[in-house]
Amino acid sequence: SRVVVLLSGRGSNFQAIAEAQLPIEIVAVISNRPQAAGLDYARSRGLPAVALDHTAHPDREAFDALLADEIERHRPDLVVLAGYMRILSTAFIARFEGRLLNIHPSLLPMFPGLKTHARALAEGIKIHGCTVHFVTADLDHGPIVIQAAVPVRADDTPDTLAARVLQQEHRIYPQAIRWFAEGRLEINQGHVNLKGDLT
Ligand code: GRF
Repeated sequence: SRVVVLLSGRGSNFQAIAEAQLPIEIVAVISNRPQAAGLDYARSRGLPAVALDHTAHPDREAFDALLADEIERHRPDLVVLAGYMRILSTAFIARFEGRLLNIHPSLLPMFPGLKTHARALAEGIKIHGCTVHFVTADLDHGPIVIQAAVPVRADDTPDTLAARVLQQEHRIYPQAIRWFAEGRLEINQGHVNLKGDLT
């Protein structure tokens, strides 16, 4: 599968995906922030790295249209959001629906939105985690592909909890992309069916 990665920052999920030896070709990495470390990593691997600075395009619809055109130039089968920290317009999502994945640092549908680790600690929940899901117009509520849980420890801070969750992100995102590339993900009535065994 041809995969385009969208990111905004550090890019550790992108790095995990790139290193996982998946049956994919990463055909472009695009960031809305020109300084994103993820772009440097892409360049270090010889992958096409594209900066599309959203601050130069204040209109969200206009920026997303440019972004969608740039993505489509690379003819992706799959678009992967890997720490892409901007809400996407509904027109953009409609254009890529069914081939757009996101990773979210909570066990959805708990804690959609931002600051998930601090909110999990504030609630006193004992299990937290991360979710890979297809993106739909309903923010952080698309069909769930895979989740991983981690324990919350009494002395956790948002940072220590985030680090524990991030290790699992780096495991489940490549797994989800592998399933997609193998044609094993089927969306049926808003839910993902995995064809074959859970491997
Ligand atoms: C991850 O925690 C991801 O779940 C969230 O943003 C963070 C991105 O980290 N959406 P990285 O850029 O992949 O290191």
